[in-house]
Amino acid sequence: MNLTMSVPTHTPVLLAETIEALAVQPGGRYIDCTIGAGGHGIAILYHSSPGGQLLGIDADPEAIKVAKARLEAYSSSTLLINENFANLKAICIKYNFLPVHGILFDLGLSSLQVNGGGRGFSFQHDAPLDMRLSPSQEVTAADIVNISSEAELAGLIRTFGEESHSRGIAHYIVRQRPIKTTLQLTQTIEQAIGGRRGRIHPATKTFQALRIAVNQELEHLQSALEQAIELLGFGGRLVVISYHSLEDRIVKRFMHQEASGEKACLRLINKKVITPSLAEVELNPRSRSAKLRAAERITEPDEQFASG
Ligand SMILES: C[S@@+](CC[C@H](N)C(=O)[O-])C[C@H]1O[C@@H](n2cnc3c(N)ncnc32)[C@H](O)[C@@H]1O
Repeated sequence: MNLTMSVPTHTPVLLAETIEALAVQPGGRYIDCTIGAGGHGIAILYHSSPGGQLLGIDADPEAIKVAKARLEAYSSSTLLINENFANLKAICIKYNFLPVHGILFDLGLSSLQVNGGGRGFSFQHDAPLDMRLSPSQEVTAADIVNISSEAELAGLIRTFGEESHSRGIAHYIVRQRPIKTTLQLTQTIEQAIGGRRGRIHPATKTFQALRIAVNQELEHLQSALEQAIELLGFGGRLVVISYHSLEDRIVKRFMHQEASGEKACLRLINKKVITPSLAEVELNPRSRSAKLRAAERITEPDEQFASG
């Protein structure tokens, strides 16, 4: 497999486990809802050759550019769409890409977005407080930080960051406004709750909360999972890799719900969640919080989704 090393890279997490869970087969049709730098995508194309097809979606136009370069060798079998996966069903109908053998979500951000600096996702790089996946979105993290009331900020940091110091942080933020950069926000949080606690940086949870709010991550995930089921053919696989407990809770609840009762349309592939080996975490520390869940469709798709 040629991984065209001149293109910026992001090390795909749980790669072998993902290919196995998707049961990738030659000639299959797959959707990677979070194509990112194309790490999982290129492996899906490799294992589905000859005849495989991949629809790659990403909300970030920069990711689509990187994926396009990375997947160039497979350009005739690949369709790349710069869209939010919240519009998954409409995209598949528009491009007549259904039914499918497998759908992958590798949630969150790629290393390119986090380490690229200028996007405002990381407290380790000073940048405007943006955090939008796509420049077409209207609301930035700065808008939320500078316009919300103290109570709204505290609620958001508590709910989406699971941060126990949310009220103190919100109080300091409101006192320090306007806050325009990641550095200003990080310093404000440090003032509110002090320096490093244990292994995680004091700004980690607040940054997570803002990113989730800016990109409506939890609503979009719930909606996309519901749409994904409809697009799978009989025996098609749904595979989701999540990186924090709020996402994983949604995925777990969704899969368990759809796999139980008389009207069950899914069968769980792995009863226990799959996590990376110690060796993978050592090689790629970003993988340490990854959780993979997979399920198989056990019912026929509705007629409108049955032919491609
Ligand atoms: C962890 S990265 C995926 C990396 C990819 N699997 C690889 O191996 O290169 C997650 C990607 O999902 C994209 N993303 C996150 N939420 C999205 C959404 N709601 N719609 C579309 N893309 C989204 C991000 O822009 C990012 O590029």
